Amino acid sequence: MDLNQKICYCFNVTVGDIKKEIESGSTTLQEIQSETKAGTACKGCVKRLQETIDALLAEKA
Ligand code: FES
Repeated sequence: MDLNQKICYCFNVTVGDIKKEIESGSTTLQEIQSETKAGTACKGCVKRLQETIDALLAEKA
């Protein structure tokens, strides 16, 4: 996965930012949202964000 790939444009959140949150223990969309704000403005990225979280969690497992 490209860590520089942008997932949330409203808050400039990349795959790398999400990966960092997952490494520090976040596992749910809600946790990632409260840590990074990703997906909390236009919400256009929520599906992409959830898919990214799932992929990163699968990678970590
Ligand atoms: S692109 Fe993520 S909230 Fe708008």
